[in-house]
Amino acid sequence: VIKMTDLDLAGKRVLIREDLNVPIKDGKVTSDARIRASMPTITHAANAGAKVMLMSHVGRPVEGEFSEENSLQPVADHISGILGKPVRLIRDYLNGGFDVADGEVVLLENVRFNAGEKKNDEALSKKYAALCDIYVMDAFGTAHRAQASTHGAGTYAPVACAGPLLAGELDALGKALDNPARPMVAIVGGSKVSTKLTVLESLSTKVDQLVVGGGIANTFIAAAGLPVGKSLYEADLIDTCKRLTADAEANGGSIPVPTDIVCAKEFSPTAEATLKAADECLDDDMIFDIGPDSAEALAEIIRNAGTIVWNGPVGVFEFDQFGEGTKTISLAIAESDGFSIAGGGDTLAAVDKYDIADKVSYISTGGGAFLEFLEGKALPAVTMLEERAA
Ligand code: 3PG
Repeated sequence: VIKMTDLDLAGKRVLIREDLNVPIKDGKVTSDARIRASMPTITHAANAGAKVMLMSHVGRPVEGEFSEENSLQPVADHISGILGKPVRLIRDYLNGGFDVADGEVVLLENVRFNAGEKKNDEALSKKYAALCDIYVMDAFGTAHRAQASTHGAGTYAPVACAGPLLAGELDALGKALDNPARPMVAIVGGSKVSTKLTVLESLSTKVDQLVVGGGIANTFIAAAGLPVGKSLYEADLIDTCKRLTADAEANGGSIPVPTDIVCAKEFSPTAEATLKAADECLDDDMIFDIGPDSAEALAEIIRNAGTIVWNGPVGVFEFDQFGEGTKTISLAIAESDGFSIAGGGDTLAAVDKYDIADKVSYISTGGGAFLEFLEGKALPAVTMLEERAA
């Protein structure tokens, strides 16, 4: 793909699609990780003398309608605070008619207020494209969506290139997945096998150890013939878990199942946690974490890994009494000399909680996009950039 950093941006109208889909409460951005990740791209373009137009979606508004609640105004204010200069939010931009000075940064209002955005409408895409001399796709977090601002705009713009954030994500994820230093371990947690089945399929034969956690692990525990009581699990996927385990083993890998578990009788922040051997789970028990022996065994695997890919906690770490497993794993990732990548909302919350952000080699800004990359799927926005470069 063409890279933004290889182009002369001076005096050019540069339209940058970022993923500024951040949580907002009472008109304020409550977590600005995605904004901070986009700032090097924004300052690079502004310092190069470009007329910088940023665009993004936020939330999932009713398409074609303005709503205050999904306005990007708080994001414009936030970026303005970081840059130390005004960032105008432009509401009516589809037909042009606004000027941007060289080196100025403006933000275009939520692209999902435009009818046709999500279905990648051609006429809308052409309107976006007409705003710019250079279209920059930098929104890794939305690269799995073929929408007018992520795909169509780049198709019709005079020049389409990858911004530094997107390029950096692709480099880091490619390094972890395409030619990983061995041993490679992936940690996939979450509540359901069904929502992460394609990820599990893709990773089970690629990695040396596939560590499963949360409700996903419960289904694997059941597949191993162990009791799971009232725990969240998917009975209809037990055979699938058996097959995944067999596939992993046929490839010289493994999917370790916990030997000890932390259970409770109810799901609540004050629930009493009880440590048990994995075969002691009672009919009215719910498994909320892995036990210390299992956690330490996984930590050992992680500390010795050449590559670590992490998506999803191994327990209900929001409640401290069920957070020890995820904490042990987090600290092992922090200690490991291997190349580590973490992505996904819950995972980043755990990275924050156990304060390991600066010890993870790369933290992805993608949620759904990160998962699709792990699944081995082509990201439509990236395919578009490749086609434009060819
Ligand atoms: C995300 O947060 O995963 C991206 O911004 C994509 O948002 P979407 O799932 O609403 O398309």
